[in-house]
Amino acid sequence: MAFSVVILAAGKGTRMKSSLPKVLHKVGGVPMVQRIINTVQSLGAENIHLVYGHGGDQLKASIAADNLNWCLQAEQLGTGHAVQQAVPHINDQEDVLVLVGDAPLIQEQTLSALKAVKAQCDLALLTVELDDPTGMGRIVRENDNITAIVEHKDATDAQRDIKEINTGMMMMSGADLKRWLGDLSNDNAQGEYYLTDVIAMAASEGKRIQSAQPESAVEVEGVNNRLQLANLERALQQRQANALMTNGVTLLDPSRFDLRGTLETGNDIVIDVNVIVEGDVTIGNNVTIGANCILRNCTIADNAVIEANSIIEDAQVGEACVVGPYARLRPGAVMHKNAKVGNFVEMKKAVLGEGAKANHLTYLGDAQVGANANIGAGTITCNYDGVNKSKTVIGENAFIGSNSSLVAPVSVGDGATVGAGSVITSAVEDNALAVARGKQRNIANWPRPTKKS
Ligand code: UD1
Ligand code: CA
Repeated sequence: MAFSVVILAAGKGTRMKSSLPKVLHKVGGVPMVQRIINTVQSLGAENIHLVYGHGGDQLKASIAADNLNWCLQAEQLGTGHAVQQAVPHINDQEDVLVLVGDAPLIQEQTLSALKAVKAQCDLALLTVELDDPTGMGRIVRENDNITAIVEHKDATDAQRDIKEINTGMMMMSGADLKRWLGDLSNDNAQGEYYLTDVIAMAASEGKRIQSAQPESAVEVEGVNNRLQLANLERALQQRQANALMTNGVTLLDPSRFDLRGTLETGNDIVIDVNVIVEGDVTIGNNVTIGANCILRNCTIADNAVIEANSIIEDAQVGEACVVGPYARLRPGAVMHKNAKVGNFVEMKKAVLGEGAKANHLTYLGDAQVGANANIGAGTITCNYDGVNKSKTVIGENAFIGSNSSLVAPVSVGDGATVGAGSVITSAVEDNALAVARGKQRNIANWPRPTKKS
């Protein structure tokens, strides 16, 4: 059955003390509301109506989805009033899933379960039992049947003892929702139009109301301040770490691993502590990642070794390559099979051919390095003249002596050798030796200066 989603995100989020709308704060590197949008998209939602109130420009600049419809709730008059803003876009025939924008850890399988419950009844509610339900709407049951939700502020003492609470997530038909919303009043403790009042309306019409529960309570936990945000971040990281370990990845300490994006993994990967993975990252089989590495939008092929403290961004590391420790691969860095970059080597828009090596203290920018070339310590490709970037091409089996500057645009041929300390400004032919430095001159018995009195 076709269904659409209404995400309530118009609340101000005052307690975040932030210029950023609350739902744009990130969990696992993704804005909370985007995470929810991604989840309902994989569930197959037809349309997603996002009810927003504050920071519309910021929201629209940060959030994306093909089937997203923006609904402004100019004044926050309650959750029922918020859903009303989406009503003009809702069909009678479709089902409507209402979600809250600040509970980012909701899982697809939980919403799937809620949907399955809705298929068997008229109104499906996601509820959870909390040891401390203070502040939440309570699920009122008579002979086990749900008859109402009572908000904490409106509840009697007896109702406040109820531990089963409303998560704010529910599903019903568009026709029912529209009819009930039309009958809401704000005659309650908060003077708000409560979405939760539709439950008593449904019960009085004799509708079948049933509940589903999430796998764990963190899925429905909302974020109101940065403490709660940090707690959910930890919960998400633990969930992700568990999934990775289940998939054959060794995390030497799962509590010191952060995935802020997506990670595709092969078998027998070992990841040491304090590794941060951002964006979309793919790691092949039998790869070792040392401590304190940052991997961002990159691919690392089978049998590669990334030593500690390396940063790899928008780059490709080929099979059996070795990177680091302390290496930095910037956007456009590509290492072919068996290539090696060692400590304090930086690559940007640079390709290292198969088996090529730059073992120490080198900058390779806008460069192409042939197979099995050896780049000596301290080599710099001088790619920038202050205005334009130019390219350096180094041939196969070339040998660049230590502390050389290759002033681009320039090329060094296959099998060519550059003497240490050279400044190369014009092309070096294949198999030639280029030496471009002051010639050594020795002065015999040279008297050192003496201190003047
Ligand atoms: C609401 C529920 C309560 C439930 C709790 C779960 C109602 C009346 N109460 O209470 O039963 O236990 O959530 O967290 O629904 N929002 C708008 N516009 C508004 C008001 C709220 O978009 O005018 C959005 C908020 O941004 C938030 C969500 O709706 O994402 C819930 O609002 P919030 O004020 O947190 O609801 P509670 O009073 O906590
Ligand atoms: Ca409220």
